[in-house]
Amino acid sequence: MTISQLQETIENFFAAGPDAIGDNFAMAAFLALRAALEVGDVRAASPDAASPSGWRVNAWVKQGILLGFRLGVLEEFPSAGFSFVDKSTFPVRHFSSGEGVRVVPGGSSVRSAAFVARGVVCMPPMYINAGAYVDEGTMVDSHALVGSCAQIGKRVHLSAAAQIGGVLEPVNASPVVIEDDVLVGGNCGVYEGTVVRKGAVLAAGAILTRGTPVFDLVNGAILRATAEMPLIIPENAVVVPGSRAVSKNKGQEWGLSLYAPVIVKYRDEKTDLSTTLEELLR
Ligand SMILES: CC(C)(COP(=O)(O)OP(=O)(O)OC[C@H]1O[C@@H](n2cnc3c(N)ncnc32)[C@H](O)[C@@H]1OP(=O)(O)O)[C@@H](O)C(=O)NCCC(=O)NCCS
Repeated sequence: MTISQLQETIENFFAAGPDAIGDNFAMAAFLALRAALEVGDVRAASPDAASPSGWRVNAWVKQGILLGFRLGVLEEFPSAGFSFVDKSTFPVRHFSSGEGVRVVPGGSSVRSAAFVARGVVCMPPMYINAGAYVDEGTMVDSHALVGSCAQIGKRVHLSAAAQIGGVLEPVNASPVVIEDDVLVGGNCGVYEGTVVRKGAVLAAGAILTRGTPVFDLVNGAILRATAEMPLIIPENAVVVPGSRAVSKNKGQEWGLSLYAPVIVKYRDEKTDLSTTLEELLR
C-alpha cells in the first residue's frame, strides 16, 4: 500500500467512527501506519518551507493514532523482567483487564507509533508517547516527557524533567516542535504547539505556552502566538525565566508580577561553552 492509499484508508476508517471497531481492515491500516511511524516514513508534522511556521500538520496521521485508540482493547502486558524489593505487607497491586483500570507500562517507556532514531539516549525514567518523532543524537534525560506527536530534532538535549507537551486533538492542531541542536533546560515546559527554532536555548525553568508572551530584549519585540500561528522562539535565542510587573488594577496596587520568559541574548561563544559543559558532564 502506498502512503497516499494508507492516508485515504485511515481517513475513511476514522470517519466511520465506532463502525470501524472489530473491522480487520481498519486494524491492518492502523498497524501499517504504526509501522510507518516507527521507522519515520510518516510523521504527525513535517518540515514545510511553504508554511509560515515552517511546519505542516499531517492531520490524517493524528486521525490514525486516534483510530488506534478506538480499535485497541484493554490487555495485560507481561512484566519487563525488572525485579523489585519492598515490605512484604505492601506488595504492588495487580490489575486484570476486567477491572477496567488502565496502567500504562512505565518507568521508562516508548510507546508504539513513536519514531526514535539511532543514537538517541533515553535516561530513566522518561516517556515518549505515540506519534512522537525523536531524531538522531538526541538525549531524553531523566523525568523528561515527549508528548504525543511532538517533533524533536537532531542533537537536542531534553534535560531532566523537561516536559514537551503533546497535541493529539484537535487533529489539525500543530504539535510542539523542537528543532535541531536546541537545549531544553531542566524543568522546562513547552506546550500547545510552540515551535522552538534551531539552536535555541531554554534556560532551566522556562515555560512556554500559546498564552505566554516572550520578551525579546535584543530586538525590542514581544513575541506571541496568534490565531493562525503558534508561539515561535527564533533560531539561537537564549530564553531565561523572568518576571514583569503587573501595570493595571489590583495587580499594580498589590505590587504583583507575572512570569515572563525573556530572550536575553542570541547564542554566542559563551552559550556554546555553557551548553558544551553540560554535554561533557553527561
Ligand atoms: C541559558 C544558559 C545556557 C546560560 O547561557 P549563557 O549564554 O552562558 O548565558 P550568560 O551567562 O551569558 O547570561 C546572559 C544573561 O542572562 C542571565 N541568565 C543566564 N542564565 C539565566 C537563568 N537560568 N535564569 C535567569 N537569568 C539567566 C545572566 O545573568 C545574564 O544577564 P546579565 O548580563 O544581566 O547578568 C544557562 O543559564 C542554563 O540554563 N543552562 C541549562 C542548565 C540545565 O538545565 N541543565 C540541565 C542539565 S540536566
